[in-house]
Amino acid sequence: MSAVIIDGKAFAAGLRGRVADAVPAFVAATGRAPGLSVVLVGDDPASHVYVRNKGIATTGAGMVSVEHRLPADVSEAELLALVAALNADNAVDGILVQMPCPKHISEARVIAAVDPAKDVDGFHPVNAGRLASGLPGLVPCTPSGCLMLLQDALGDLSGKEALVIGRSNIVGKPMAALLVAASATVTAAHSRTRDLAAHVARADIVVAAVGVPELVRGDWLKPGACVIDVGMNRIALPDGKTKLVGDVNFAEALETAGWVTPVPGGVGPMTIACLLRNTLLAAHARTG
Ligand code: GUN
Repeated sequence: MSAVIIDGKAFAAGLRGRVADAVPAFVAATGRAPGLSVVLVGDDPASHVYVRNKGIATTGAGMVSVEHRLPADVSEAELLALVAALNADNAVDGILVQMPCPKHISEARVIAAVDPAKDVDGFHPVNAGRLASGLPGLVPCTPSGCLMLLQDALGDLSGKEALVIGRSNIVGKPMAALLVAASATVTAAHSRTRDLAAHVARADIVVAAVGVPELVRGDWLKPGACVIDVGMNRIALPDGKTKLVGDVNFAEALETAGWVTPVPGGVGPMTIACLLRNTLLAAHARTG
């Protein structure tokens, strides 16, 4: 059996296109384009790449992108003052503070400082609580994108056995909440889970978001399962080069799964497309 390789890049391009198509109506109604402000603290090279790509995608969809770069030694008070200024700026619909922040800054305090109505990351406790309570709100981008890919592959998820591996606030927990809301039967696995392979073997849906290169082996999978790989792990090869791999052994998964996302080109592009969608949703919600 050979799995269908889910083309996240193509799906994300379609979503970005639908967001871009909806922007002119917002401009016509309000006299301004939706605005996303991204705050980057320090000089983590991967974060710089992500932020640049977010900026390009935002302007590509006809929205306003503003980047605020702060030095690694900026005080938490200065960062919180910038967030407060962005909260108060009516031209700003979405605020994203790129994580991770330097160690002397409390990410929890920064997240809590963002106006929940502008929290396009969906990380604010108010939005996390809304998601857990089944109320409308801004939903974290990566799990939103995973859900879209799952529904595109499988249709209705109700009654499916879903396994989420990883319990981060960014992916694992909101992913589990979204799957519960979609009426799947959800198991949340993590570093203390015993016999992960046995859980994988029961799952119609596997979402792997743990950051362990190729942790999930192909022969663990239930035949025909839909496998969504959120992992982005850079590993060293014997020839000194590096390679990006997911949390799932892709070549092995192809043999057993029904559907599998590649790394790169699977979940990654969906995250940015969902960020654009959240920015447009926030802009509409703020302007009534
Ligand atoms: N760092 C890694 N992923 C994300 C994300 O989705 N949002 C933010 N703000 N930082 C991140």
